[in-house]
Amino acid sequence: MARIVLGVGGGIAAYKACDLLRRLTEAGHSVRVAPTQSALNFVGVATWAALSGQPVTGSVFDDVDQVPHVRLGQEADLVVVAPATANLLAKAAHGFADDLLTNVLLTARCPVLFAPAMHTEMWEHPATAANVALLRQRGVTVLEPAVGRLTGVDTGKGRLPDPEQLANTCEHLISRGSQTGTLPIADLAGRRVVVSAGGTREALDPVRYLGNRSSGRQGYALAAAAAGRGAQVVLVSANVDLPDPAGVEVRRVTSAAELREVVTAASAEADAVVMAAAVADFRPAVVSAHKIKKDQSNAGDAADDYYTLRLTRNPDVLVDLVTARRRGQVIVGFGAETGDDSTSWLEFGRRKLAVKGCDLLVVNEVGDGLAFGTADNAAVILGSDGSETQVEKGPKQVLADVVWDLVAARLT
Ligand code: CTP
Repeated sequence: MARIVLGVGGGIAAYKACDLLRRLTEAGHSVRVAPTQSALNFVGVATWAALSGQPVTGSVFDDVDQVPHVRLGQEADLVVVAPATANLLAKAAHGFADDLLTNVLLTARCPVLFAPAMHTEMWEHPATAANVALLRQRGVTVLEPAVGRLTGVDTGKGRLPDPEQLANTCEHLISRGSQTGTLPIADLAGRRVVVSAGGTREALDPVRYLGNRSSGRQGYALAAAAAGRGAQVVLVSANVDLPDPAGVEVRRVTSAAELREVVTAASAEADAVVMAAAVADFRPAVVSAHKIKKDQSNAGDAADDYYTLRLTRNPDVLVDLVTARRRGQVIVGFGAETGDDSTSWLEFGRRKLAVKGCDLLVVNEVGDGLAFGTADNAAVILGSDGSETQVEKGPKQVLADVVWDLVAARLT
């Protein structure tokens, strides 16, 4: 159980903060809501009080004998501001303290998470951009807003991330806050990272494809963890049926060729690239423009019971990334291995690291219900410097954080 202060800014997305509050209290946390005066124009004190089960005020002049403007910040395990308006970001960046929330932000020594929501123009304005950069420099996490429908008819960047995903980011920061002690939570602030996730599909005809069983969970956990640690994250997602992680820009692809194009373009500016996607090594040499009929056997004189597929090799995206690597860029590959009679899965992993030439290779054993589609993962992370980091079976977020710890150490 953690003590959380939920700061709510005066934007229409304040109503979504009710959902976030509900999720945090249902997870067992004690949540004090500190709305700004303008937030109360959207959602009133009664709603916050009923949902949190705690008294609610936005003023420093209520319950003065308990000195809440100092105590709340000092005692918190997490301060999350959702939605964070342009005005609130400006005040936080410049140390204003004219209500309870801004006082809490000055007294808090725990992880601080801002989830901005506003119109695209306001988010892109140089004043907001400079305030966000300043906050990030100081080690707080400022998530990128989501893209989509805004208030009114317009669409663009500026939406509050999905409350369920925001709650996940809160949990991530609470657990990191309890583990890292004095280390900065947003240790990837100012870094750009690219993560690929899921499994590619190689078309056979307009209705069929060759695919694989990757769920994308590990890649999504990596992207969510990087955003929580302050990075700007592009997630290249191949056929994944999971919600967009908070603060992550998701670009969807289908085939290996599309994935290669999008990953390569995004990687040009990236400090780190993590290739967690299961990319098809081969694709059908010919993609039929029409649905292949079952009586169209192409197996020559062989019986009608056979159909021959001719496959052609796909480029290896990871190897290409390593070849084109910028100075200082860290590249991480994944290897899902099974052993055979003479060679262990780990040994195959060591060989793969040598062939791919990346900085880190996350190797896990697959088969018999291991790894694919499950919530837990165990792995060994091999470094090009000969290091081998064992990660015990546990949630994919834990493995994700160990990967980013190793990446962060190589970036500095
Ligand atoms: N990979 C890639 N491009 C491909 C195939 C794989 O970038 N065409 C990347 C994956 O994203 C992963 C790593 O390479 O990070 C290892 O993928 P894997 O399929 O296990 O390796 P392969 O080189 O295909 O070796 P294997 O013969 O074991 O399949």
